[in-house]
Amino acid sequence: MSLAITPLTPHIGARLTGIDAGRPITPAEVAAVEAGMDRHAVLVLPGQAITDGQQLAFTRNFGLLEEGANSTVRNAELRLAPTFADVSNLDRDGTMLARDNRRRMASLGNRLWHSDASFRAVPARYSILSGRIVTTEGGNTEFADMRAAYDTLDARTKAEVETLVCEHSLIYSRQQLGFSEFLPDERVSMRPVLQRLVRTHPVTGHKSLFLSAHIGAIVGWPRPEAMAFIRDLIEHATQPKFVYVHRWTQHDLVIWDNRTTMHRVRRFDDLNIVRDMRRTTTRSDGPTVAQEAA
Ligand code: OGA
Ligand code: MN
Repeated sequence: MSLAITPLTPHIGARLTGIDAGRPITPAEVAAVEAGMDRHAVLVLPGQAITDGQQLAFTRNFGLLEEGANSTVRNAELRLAPTFADVSNLDRDGTMLARDNRRRMASLGNRLWHSDASFRAVPARYSILSGRIVTTEGGNTEFADMRAAYDTLDARTKAEVETLVCEHSLIYSRQQLGFSEFLPDERVSMRPVLQRLVRTHPVTGHKSLFLSAHIGAIVGWPRPEAMAFIRDLIEHATQPKFVYVHRWTQHDLVIWDNRTTMHRVRRFDDLNIVRDMRRTTTRSDGPTVAQEAA
């Protein structure tokens, strides 16, 4: 079967068929996926019934793994290997997380528009999310095109954001939802990192806005002014015309480029319906502050 890419919206998202993610893929196939990602920012690969091992092997084609994504969970309590971000609503024993479960509280942050691991000095490149058990009512994942968001800023705002640097931390995104139960060692490991607000894609040279719910400050700005501005930018960036809404089918494998998109999950009845989603993630080339300065 030959590889085919069909766009899902005018800006963002495409369906990719003709690749079996459960088998080793060729360098030409890796290059084709990367070219598809550079163009569409989100690729949906339907019908990929894969194991955790297969998902890891597939992910390794696209860079170094980002590990330790489950920052608010101790390793001993993990349901999946630490190379996975467990974005399910399941506990270690396979039961649904209770309403006041700490991991559930923290994971509600995924309902806010964000870019994965923007709170790390070297943020994420690709996120690869496998829909093992999907929901039909609610639980869509939405993706916003941050290239289109940048392109459509007026000239004055473009000039203003060009050199701005933001502070990102998991603490900031959780705080927005009123979650502030961080342990002392978490407060240290979640110290804010700096990211440029405008980043340039290393291959296409396209600029995009690097926005995320993890932003809690703009360097040199009074905080309320910074947060009001970030809200405006997020509102602009997530207009429906820049968004692809993914409705899950079981065994969809969805890949997104965190350098050029934001995403969020929509509400669903997570106390009563199982949603088993498993994410692997690769690292980008380096800190955005250094990249833009270079
Ligand atoms: C993620 C995430 C979205 C979802 O995996 O990074 O934000 O649909 N999840 O669960
Ligand atoms: Mn995410």
